[in-house]
Amino acid sequence: MTDTKFSAYRIHAHEDEFSAKLVTMQLDDLTAGDVVIEVAYSSINYKDALAATGRGKILRAPTLNGGIDMAGVVSQSSSPLFSQGDEVFSCAAGLSEFYDGGYAQIARLPANTLRKVPQGLSMRDTMAFGTAGITAAIAIQRMEENGQTKTNGPIVVTGASGGVGSFAVNMLSQTGYEVVASSGKEQTHEYLRQLGASDIIDRYSVGDKPPRPLEKGIWGGAVDTVGGDTLSWLNSTTKPWGNIACIGLASSIKLNTTVMPLILRGVSLLGINCMELPDSMLEHCWKRLATDLKPSQFDLIAPGSVSLEQLPSAFDAYMAGEVSGRTVVTIN
Ligand SMILES: NC(=O)c1ccc[n+]([C@@H]2O[C@H](COP(=O)([O-])OP(=O)(O)OC[C@H]3O[C@@H](n4cnc5c(N)ncnc54)[C@H](OP(=O)(O)O)[C@@H]3O)[C@@H](O)[C@H]2O)c1
Repeated sequence: MTDTKFSAYRIHAHEDEFSAKLVTMQLDDLTAGDVVIEVAYSSINYKDALAATGRGKILRAPTLNGGIDMAGVVSQSSSPLFSQGDEVFSCAAGLSEFYDGGYAQIARLPANTLRKVPQGLSMRDTMAFGTAGITAAIAIQRMEENGQTKTNGPIVVTGASGGVGSFAVNMLSQTGYEVVASSGKEQTHEYLRQLGASDIIDRYSVGDKPPRPLEKGIWGGAVDTVGGDTLSWLNSTTKPWGNIACIGLASSIKLNTTVMPLILRGVSLLGINCMELPDSMLEHCWKRLATDLKPSQFDLIAPGSVSLEQLPSAFDAYMAGEVSGRTVVTIN
């Protein structure tokens, strides 16, 4: 195994230097870990595209294999938690940030970055969800814990045709919420209706002019993957006691708003971070992904896959916001 050569998509991002390409590696080239995995699948998230195009500073080391998600079979383990043959996966646990990631035929990882594939899901399912799926589930869980009701009005999902957005639309609608999807791609309208959106609004009409501190309340709650002016607008248009799950920055990291909706309507702005979550919460959300939140339209959201060889040309479309749903990467 030590001498075995394997392929990996390796990113070098250090000061002004940047490169990302397929290379040949050996086990001892990988970052340290007590579990060696033959990788079966990975996936593409917005964060992977930021890392692979050099558009975002994701790596916390000069050179790492890309891929924040990974699923595969344990081939060696010196951890008591995992044995040879176990099907494991890792999502948003520091891969491609601190450790070599899932875009490689072999991964070597610390045991605390891994989980066993939950009952009711396959290795491919865990990667079809990936960081996007668990994040959508965490958002819904947090909103419900904070008193979100189905009778407060529709939940609007922004960046709706993206990975997180697609799951949020489908999961919310199948659990009984009325869902309105905000999307910038007209060609996704039929797709979003199939996922359960009762209405679709144009991304470009959302937050196109600065909202007043309190606009007419429209939304029972919101799942926002976009940030910027869209999030300002959501804050002004969410009804009393609605929750806004703040997830992403596809439009902007900026937030220009007022406290008025928070103090006069009791609106809650819930920060969602899929990393560093208490393990009990993560376990609960993965159980929900295998049961009540398992998308009725899973195949529609993650229909196909790309190979490791096809990966280098897949990222630009993510940066351009052109992709719908999820892309699984088939590694072995
Ligand atoms: N907080 C967390 O823990 C966490 C976890 C996962 C992801 N995220 C963040 O959530 C966001 C979505 O991630 P993802 O993996 O779902 O990404 P994705 O699959 O690339 O989807 C992003 C979607 O956002 C919309 N969009 C793209 N550019 C936009 C722009 N300039 N203005 C407004 N909308 C735009 C597009 O959807 P439409 O065409 O339908 O509008 C696009 O498909 C990213 O910012 C990501 O970093 C955060």
